[in-house]
Amino acid sequence: MATYGFSVLVITISLVIVTTYATLDADETIQFGYLGDKGPDKWGSLDPKLKVCTDGKAQSPIDLVRTKATLDDKLNALSRDYQSARATLVNNGFNVAVHFDGSAGTMNVDGKNYSLLQMHWHTPSEHKMDGKQLDAELQLVHKADDGSISITAILYQIGNGDSFLARIQKKLGDLAKDKCGPNEHAEIDLGNVNTKPLRKSTRNYFRYNGSFTTPPCTENVIWFVFGKPRSMSPQQIDALKAPMEAAYKNNARPVQPDNGRIVNIHDQPKKN
Ligand SMILES: *[C@@H]1O[C@H](CO)[C@@H](O)[C@H](O)[C@H]1NC(C)=O
Ligand SMILES: *[C@@H]1O[C@H](CO)[C@@H](O)[C@H](O)[C@H]1NC(C)=O
Repeated sequence: MATYGFSVLVITISLVIVTTYATLDADETIQFGYLGDKGPDKWGSLDPKLKVCTDGKAQSPIDLVRTKATLDDKLNALSRDYQSARATLVNNGFNVAVHFDGSAGTMNVDGKNYSLLQMHWHTPSEHKMDGKQLDAELQLVHKADDGSISITAILYQIGNGDSFLARIQKKLGDLAKDKCGPNEHAEIDLGNVNTKPLRKSTRNYFRYNGSFTTPPCTENVIWFVFGKPRSMSPQQIDALKAPMEAAYKNNARPVQPDNGRIVNIHDQPKKN
């Protein structure tokens, strides 16, 4: 049975005025959105540095089609070694995220360790599965010492409640009460967060080379999207949307052309 450690007795909320933007270099930022003239089809023209959002040939998300994916039977089970770490719940203006302040553990990909830095939700899902968009997607972002990125993604459909979200639901409510505009950034201390429940073994996942799904749309991200969707309650979907400004409640980038990229599917037999 997974246990969660939340040591927060006092809720601290800090509001910092920042703009909703993507961090490019140290001091360069560009505002983007999901609608109209700041919408996903315009990202590439918001700034020359974002050209890859439009011109890139390996952008994410994509539609993951089982019958088109290549079965890779050489694969290993995902190797993750997560641990509890101090974390902060963040409304960064374009999504709700959990940022780990301490070391939250690693994921090993092809012999290289990637540290878990943060995770965030998109509603509805960004990746599609067999042409179908689901209700939400959680993305866990990992970074290796050499700067390379790997992201694991879990898709959710409406159904039973998700146990991880249940633990932070009250904090999500607090985040929503804190009227955070698109030019603001709100944070709530979560204390110690145990990510083990998110690690649950998965024998079935897609792997492909893609990009960040928000500007700067940087490529060379190794994606692992779990093949089996999980569920969250309608109230939990609402709780994830509540802190967001209207224009960011639906914050899924549309699927991008796969341009002939190879998508591997790892579908392991049950171990006895
Ligand atoms: C990678 O992480 C694992 C698990 O935490 C650890 O045992 C191993 O020493 C790490 N390897 C390197 C090269 O840091
Ligand atoms: C993904 O990118 C890496 C690094 O560029 C490359 O070695 C690998 O072959 C690519 N994988 C696929 C399935 O295209």
